[in-house]
Parts: sequence; C-alpha cells; structure tokens
Amino acid sequence: MSTAANPYWLPFTANRDFNKKPRVISGASGHWYTTSDGTRMYDTFSGLWTSGIGHCHPKIVAAVQKQVAELDYCIGFQVTNDKALELAARVTAMAPDGITNCFFTNSGSESVDTALKIALGYHRARGEGHRTRLIGRERGYHGVNFGGMSVGGMVPNRKVFSAMLLPGVDHMRHTRDLEHNAFSRGLPEWGAHLADDLEQLCALHDGSNIAAVIVEPVAGSAGVLPPPVGYLKRLREICDRHGILLIFDEVITAFGRVGASFAAERFGVTPDIITTAKGLTNGVIPMGAVLVRDKIYDAFMNGPEFMIELFHGYTYSGHPVAAAAGLAALDVYEEENIFEQAASLESHFEDLLHSFDNHKHVIDVRNIGLMGAIEMAPREGAVGARGSEVFKKCFWEENLAVRAGMDTLSFSPFLNSDPDEMQQSFEGIRRVLDAID
Ligand SMILES: Cc1ncc(COP(=O)(O)O)c(C=O)c1O
Repeated sequence: MSTAANPYWLPFTANRDFNKKPRVISGASGHWYTTSDGTRMYDTFSGLWTSGIGHCHPKIVAAVQKQVAELDYCIGFQVTNDKALELAARVTAMAPDGITNCFFTNSGSESVDTALKIALGYHRARGEGHRTRLIGRERGYHGVNFGGMSVGGMVPNRKVFSAMLLPGVDHMRHTRDLEHNAFSRGLPEWGAHLADDLEQLCALHDGSNIAAVIVEPVAGSAGVLPPPVGYLKRLREICDRHGILLIFDEVITAFGRVGASFAAERFGVTPDIITTAKGLTNGVIPMGAVLVRDKIYDAFMNGPEFMIELFHGYTYSGHPVAAAAGLAALDVYEEENIFEQAASLESHFEDLLHSFDNHKHVIDVRNIGLMGAIEMAPREGAVGARGSEVFKKCFWEENLAVRAGMDTLSFSPFLNSDPDEMQQSFEGIRRVLDAID
C-alpha cells in the first residue's frame, strides 16, 4: 500500500513507515488479537492500557448489544439516562471516601481538561478566582488537548505547540533517576524530596495563586515511573498547607491496574479530583469520568436553581451505550475478583521483567502493579531505533503486540493474565532482544 493509497492518518504513528507494511488487526478474543492475515497475536499491552479483562468479554458484548437496541442515545443536557445515573453511583461508591460526584467525558484527554476547568471554577466559586496557576510535572502525560498538553511534560507532544500552550503553568521535576533508582522493584526508595518542587513553586508564586497540581500517581506513557516512597503523601501535605487541589490522573491506574480500584487506594493518598477513562468500560466504548470531592461539587451548587452551574459538557457525556459497557465492566471486576487477581499476578510479572536486569541492551527495569517497563540504551545517533526494531520484530516474528515508546518497552498485562502465557510472551521478547544489535 502506498502512502497515497491509504487515506487514514494514524495517530501517534510513523505513518510512512506503517504504510510500507501495514499492521492491521481485524479481530480479538480474550488475550489474543487476530491480524488481517489470520495470525493470532498475544497482546502484552491490554489494548492501550484499556482492556484489563481481555477483549470481547461476553458480558460486556451482551450489555452493549442490549443497550444499543433499547436506548442508543438520548440528549445529555438537562436530561439524562438511567445507565449514566447508575454508573455514576457505582463509580463513586468505589472511589475513596469523600469523593462523591462524577462528571462523564469520552476520553482521558477530555477528563483532564474537564478536571482543570472544574479546579478553576471551584476556586472562583469560593471567591478565590485569583488561584489560576496550574502545576504539572516533566514527563507527565495528560492527553493531547490544550489543557492536558500544557500541564503535561512530554517534549515531543509540546514542541510544535509551544507558543500556544496555556499560560500560568509550571512543572515539577520528573522522578526518573537511573543513578539512584535503576532496577528498583516496586516503588523506588529515593526521591520523595522531589515533591518539594511544589513547595518551591509556592514560594515563587505564593501558594495562594495556585489552583491545582496534576500528576499521574504512576507515570505511564513516559515509560512507567512509579512514585518514590512517600512522594505522593508529601505532595498531598504541601497541597493541604496551601489550599491547592490535588488531581490524580488515573486514566491508566484506575480499575485494577495497580491491584486496587484506584492508585489513590493502593498508595493511601486521597486526591481532590480523580480523572479516569480506559478501564472504565474496559476500552469497549470510549468513555471517561472525572470524580470529585463533595466540597468541590457543593461549591458549584449556588446561585439561582434554574441556572446551569458549570458551562461545560460533551454531546456524548454519559452516553447510554458507553454507560452500559461501564456497568458491565464493573460487574466483571467484582464478580471475577479482577483486582485481587491483578494483585496476585504482580510478583510473577515483576520477576519476569527483572529477569532482563542484566541484559546487554537494558539500562533500567521498573514496575508497580501490572505496569512495567524495560528501558534499553539508545543506539548512538539513533534514539528510538532500537525500540522500533524490537516492536516490529515482536509483531512480525513473535506474534506479540508490544508497546515501544522510543527505546522503552512498556507492559500492561491483562489483569486476569494466564501466568504461563505471560511468561511465554517474555520469552519471545528475550529472543528479539538477544537477536538485535
Ligand atoms: C494518564 C493519562 N491521561 C490522559 C490520557 C489521554 O487519554 P485519551 O487518549 O483517552 O484521550 C492518557 C492516555 O494514555 C493517560 O495515560
């Protein structure tokens, strides 16, 4: 297929390279994809961190089929549907204490931008409209809309749009440090003090001008950076001291990825706002949710009762078919003890990953929950080439779908993985790493 013959401009893809030999998936079941030429391919990434309970789970398929025939869509402003109401109740019931309300979106990017707007609106509603500054972190990924891109810290994503990013945004340093933390198992011991960057930004701007700080509890897209021990707690304390809202972007970490409903639960730190998407519906229908503390929702509930309190929303907020998929996903999480299964697979996954610690190409291995990364040294003058080669060899020669971000391989195994299949997938990856320069 020539470039011109393919009208689809793929996202986050080397399109010209793709078009030389397109990689096309046409089916999936459980832990396996089927490619367009009929090959079965093991999925080491659960979709795109999305599909923790496997593809085409019969319970979700049935729920979606039923819903689409019963109520395909209904207006979502000033009216809603039964499934959206039920899902909001279910999700907030799972959330940490004090988190009571839920705003639906269609993606992680929309959840992030919604959360930032809610944070600004909250302070204004309380008479602190001067709190406008937003703090993110280097290497953070919060989607691709202008808000998320501005608080995010992925350089290639920001570079082209640099002049048009939101003003009034600062970044804390990231927590990747190979000198102190390389090959840590679980949370690295070193680095809690990096949270003090927030205290410094409070000193610089005066904390009373800062609306919110947003972090991924475990940075995912940057190549899995688990938080140093004590880091998140320290951020929480600094936020409390200065009246700053703490936002956890749990688009990846919510719904079992770290062996608990939310990373907030696993790490024992409750933020003021949690953003989610992906696992909310097991990736089956696009949907996100922003979960907020009672005080935030309540602050908006003033003024005349006939008046809209938050001028924000999406045509598809609370979409009934997406909500039905979400309800079915939550049922499966509960009925099949999925989060417990994920927790019980963690040490097996950790051992498999760390069996690469001494590999000639590997400079770091990181993991927490069922999130992990193998970082390879870049080739001289060709950053990303080694990762790209591993990805393609895995795809074509080992029938493995893996995720390579530059020279880092990231893994997001199914929450209900078969331990033997998981092991076999890493054997394939080792064959590839052994074979390349
Ligand atoms: C932490 C985080 N936030 C936001 C997003 C953006 O989500 P989406 O691609 O659904 O817009 C992602 C996607 O991977 C993510 O990992």
